[in-house]
This record gives sequence, structure tokens and C-alpha cells, in this order.
Amino acid sequence: MTLENLPAWSALENHAATTAGIHPRELFNLMPERAKNMSLTAGPLWMDYSKNLITAETISLLLKLAEARELPREIAAMYAGEKINRTENRAVLHVALRAARDEVYRVDGVNVVDQVYAVRDRMAAFGEQVRNGEWLGFTGKRIKNVVNIGIGGSDLGPVMVYEALKHYSDRNLTVRFVSNVDGTHLAEATRDLNAEETLFIIASKTFTTQETMTNAHSARTWLIGQLGDAAAVARHFVAVSTNAAGVRDFGIDTANMFEFWDWVGGRYSLTSAIGLSLVIALGKDHFDALLKGYRTMDQHFKNAPLAENMPVILGLLGVWYINFLEGSSHAILPYDQYMHRFPAYFQQGDMESNGKSVTRDGEAALHATGPIIWGEPGTNGQHAFYQLIHQGTSLIPCDFIGFAKSLNPVGDHHDKLMANFFAQQEALAFGKTENEVREEGTPEELVPFKTFDGARPCTSIMAEQLTPEVLGNLIALYEHKIFVQGVIWDIYSFDQWGVELGKQLAKRILPELAEKKAAPENHDASTNAQIAWYLQHRD
Ligand code: F6P
Repeated sequence: MTLENLPAWSALENHAATTAGIHPRELFNLMPERAKNMSLTAGPLWMDYSKNLITAETISLLLKLAEARELPREIAAMYAGEKINRTENRAVLHVALRAARDEVYRVDGVNVVDQVYAVRDRMAAFGEQVRNGEWLGFTGKRIKNVVNIGIGGSDLGPVMVYEALKHYSDRNLTVRFVSNVDGTHLAEATRDLNAEETLFIIASKTFTTQETMTNAHSARTWLIGQLGDAAAVARHFVAVSTNAAGVRDFGIDTANMFEFWDWVGGRYSLTSAIGLSLVIALGKDHFDALLKGYRTMDQHFKNAPLAENMPVILGLLGVWYINFLEGSSHAILPYDQYMHRFPAYFQQGDMESNGKSVTRDGEAALHATGPIIWGEPGTNGQHAFYQLIHQGTSLIPCDFIGFAKSLNPVGDHHDKLMANFFAQQEALAFGKTENEVREEGTPEELVPFKTFDGARPCTSIMAEQLTPEVLGNLIALYEHKIFVQGVIWDIYSFDQWGVELGKQLAKRILPELAEKKAAPENHDASTNAQIAWYLQHRD
């Protein structure tokens, strides 16, 4: 049965019609216990979702929808290593990457946890060698700089976690990330580095990605140019990949390769060897703590009843807004400067996973799917785009992420930060009525402009402090939320065919640029004109 034909779906449609326009003021009046009833704890995380545009019935209907879509069975299938990524015939077992050593996760009958730990042990040993100066560069100098070259899932995760956990990092190391094929990225990342002290990590699941391979080759040219000997590559390049042959062809000894597997999706690979730069920057113990945090959330997701399951509730709230209240955009707003790349990380995580318009049976989806994910850390966002969230015409549900304790307590900064965290949510949910505006003595002609409708939904997720473990919890929370939504929408969340066409066309265009033809004629008129303009101005 298609999603739209499920009784649970029509029930939600009817419910949306009957509750349209309901305001948090009314909702809180009707249910004084709302804040208590609509909050959840999972490990160190506390989530308050009472400021959403929902009633208890909304949640109960959404849970019925989840049951109708057999969410518990789907969760079990993922953990059982079933090949739920059917368009690529792969298991989806990122949860095995953070399993405890004695846990068992099987793919094709083989317990992959053993392989996971074999690689993790090698990562830990290598990371320690770099950190304590045992791993020396070609000329015998200690490694002081680490440059991770990767893109998408092989970049965004390591960058995000490195930034988020900078407080815990070894400040004697310079750690940089190069992703863009724009030569500026590599040039700026290496311009002040001494090649003798620089280690490159080439991180690519496929080891074929154009951007990464181009940057890797240029980095090798840069290194050899500085050190004058191709033999230096062995001490300054390591690889993280599923493609041993590709790594060998590039010239990296597979002894210096850290493996992962095709059952790890690119955007879910952070806790695989893709995290090697983090093991070096943060050390094994912090990396382990990060993974432990993931594991706590993995277990919660697997075992908690749907109604008390944080990723499930977060996912269902998204479904409610996207499918029943036309809220297709979703802001993630961390009130912590260290977490400034968190929204960008889940922009890929969510949009590459659920940006689909075909259901699992190959038919066009008749319902909306993945949200547009974006955000910036508070309070910067307040002085940039919050105006539109407060008074614009779009409904933009927001997740506010905040911590009780700052890692850098400076005067009263943290209380000010958190006062804003609370105030923004209060303003979004409850607004300010015309009467309240008038009572402030506002001239009548300004009343419409100064009135805030409110009823802008938000969810608060809080923890005591930003630690590696808490970060692991938060990342796994959003990973599983994406899974929940993919199941409800009946789409495949773990492939990404939509990025392929552009890659193919770029491959076709590249030789045309090299050939220096004045004006190509084999594309549409617009593309021909753009290429012609480029060539004319380039040469
Ligand atoms: O953008 C498509 C994609 O395949 C992502 O899913 C992936 O994270 C990225 O490219 C990088 O791929 P790879 O790790 O194979 O270089």
C-alpha cells in the first residue's frame, strides 16, 4: 500500500486540517503538564519538544504511521546487516563501526566487528606514533601538520568533529582539510607548511573521486617538489579507502592504508577509518569516547519504545511539518561556537540521504521528502536570518542545541549565550500579540510590523557540556532521525544517484576545455555559450 493510502496517513491529514492554526499559547493552556510530557532523555541528552505545533494526538497518530510503515522491523533489519541499500545491494551497518568489541554485527554471515577493531587498533597505533613523534617524515623531522584530503562524507565529518572537539585536540599539531577541487583550497592549506613536517591523509571511499584525486596528485607534486625525491611519498602519504587497488595505483603502500567497507555509506563513515585525522588530532581516548557516545544513542534507537525514542520523535516531527504543514526547510542551530560545522555536516547527511523523489518500488513519490537543512551557530544566526524565521511567510522548524556549561567560561558570556537560546525559542513559539505591542505604547501604524505571530515550532536539545561522548550522541541522533524519515517516506536513504549526472557531464566537458575549441556546439545553447565565454576570457 502506498504511503498516501495508509489509514494512518489520512488520519494525519484530517488531524492537520482540524488542528490548523493551533497556537502554543493555547496548547500550553490546555495541557499545563505539556513541557514535562513532551520531553525525553537519551543518555546525556535532554530534548524538549513541547514548543512544536502538535498535540498529544499528533504524536499518537505519527506513531501509528511509524507502526504502519513497520519502523521497528526496518530498524531491526538495519542492525541485522540486511542489504537495505537495495539499489546498491549493500548492508548499512555504520552502527557496527562503534560497536563494543564483544558485540556481533554480521554482513553475509561474517562478524564485521573483528575487522572494525583490527583497523581501529591500527589507527590508534598510527595516531599515537604521529602524536608522540615516532612517525618521522622523510628527512627525519617530526610531523607537525596533518592535511586531510577528501570531499563530501570523507571531509565534512572529520572537519565538523575536529572543529567541535578542538578544545580536546593537540594544539601542537596543525590540522587542515582540503576538499574543493578549486586549486585555492590546496594552495591556501599548504602555503605556510613545511613539507618535511607534513602528513597527507587521502580519504576517499572509492579512491576515484575527481576532486580528491586531483588534490592528492597536486599535493604529491608539491611534496616531491619541496623534498626533491619521490621516495618521500611513503612517509608523507597515507590513505583511507575501500579501494586497495586504487590506493596502490596512486603510489601509496597499502601498508599505509586504513581500510573500510562498502557497507559503510560515505556520509555515515565518520567513525570508520575516515576519522583517522581525528585519532591523530584528538588522540585515541577522545576518539573512543566519541564512538562510545554514538553507541549509547545506537542502543537507545534500537531498544527504546517508539514513543520514548529520541531519533524517532525527532524524525516524526519532521514528517509532520514536511508532509502536513508544508514546512520543507529545517534549521539546526547549535548554541556553541565549536559546533559551527554541525549544520553543514547534516546538510549532506540529510539532503544526500533523503533528497529523493522515487519510492522503493520505483514509482514517483506523491509526497514531499527530505528537508532543506541549514543553520549557523547562535547567536550569529540571530543577527542574520532569524528575522525570516520569526516574521517571514515560511514555516521553518528549528532545532536549538545548547549546553549547560561552557568549555571556555569567560565572565558571563555563557549565561548571555544561553539567555538568547531560551529567549529565541520563547519568542518563536509564543510571539507577541497586537495587544501586547499596543500596551507598550507603540504607535498604531507600527503595530502590524511589531507583532509576532509566534507558532514557529522549535525543539531544544541540551546536554551538560560538549564532550566527545555528547557529540557522538548528537551525531547518532541525527543519523537515526534521517533513517526514520526515509522509512516513513518509503525511499532509499543510502544511495545518492542524484550526484552522478553532474559528475559524468563534468568528465565530458573537461576535455573540451583542454582542447581549447572556441565554441563547442554539442551542448544546449546556454551551456555552449557559457563554455565559449569561459574560453574566450580564459585564454
Ligand atoms: O557526493 C557524492 C559522494 O559519493 C558522497 O556520497 C561521498 O561522501 C563523496 O562523494 C566522496 O566520495 P569518496 O569518499 O568516494 O571520495
